[in-house]
Amino acid sequence: MNDKERVAKKAAMEVSSGMVVGLGTGSSADCFIEALAQRHHEEGLVVQTVASSIVSMQKAQRLGLPMMAIEHLNKLDYYVDGADEVTDDLVLSKGQGADLVREKILATAADKFIVLIDESKRVRQIGDRFPVPVEVIPFSWQLVVKALQGIGGQAVLRPNANNSGLAVTSYGNLVLDVDFGSLLTAEQIDTTLNAMPGVIEHGVFRDLASVIYIGIDGVVEELKRL
Ligand code: 5RP
Repeated sequence: MNDKERVAKKAAMEVSSGMVVGLGTGSSADCFIEALAQRHHEEGLVVQTVASSIVSMQKAQRLGLPMMAIEHLNKLDYYVDGADEVTDDLVLSKGQGADLVREKILATAADKFIVLIDESKRVRQIGDRFPVPVEVIPFSWQLVVKALQGIGGQAVLRPNANNSGLAVTSYGNLVLDVDFGSLLTAEQIDTTLNAMPGVIEHGVFRDLASVIYIGIDGVVEELKRL
């Protein structure tokens, strides 16, 4: 078992029968979906799951996990997802994939939000390793770029995987990758982007994670809110 599978298994072992469980997106979330499906089949664990993306939905469906549509959700016990950056005070950046909208809705709704990472994802400050992804309604992108410049952010439109066009999110929006340098704190980035017209969602997840499971050389370390 590798470190990614180990943290995913730990998260899956904490699910109990009757829970509604949110499924994140990415390779760490994939390992969690596999571990949860294994418990469902081998131990008869009774769960309902809700996916944060079409790819996670397809994976869960293929593995036979019971699923519900996000539209029917009125409570979420547990949400498990990866992250691209994590600070010591449990601020995350997410969204190197293109499913931020559902990911943040589920992370916010969950009673418990577990984040699965390895040591490489730990950063001193959000933006140290990746620009901040900002999902924008397509017709607003130039105005949002200008507004971001006004607060010191350098934004570029994200290209698609083979560089032949632009990346388009699950909801038909565009993604700006924004470099804020070290000008603004994560709190300032979060509150500014939350209030910016044309921005649908962004990748700073603040005050949402309950615990981070970090896979390091065969052991799982936990980072909790102080
Ligand atoms: C997708 C995400 C992922 O959780 C993030 O990119 C981490 O992915 P991985 O577990 O594959 O490293 O935010 O939008």
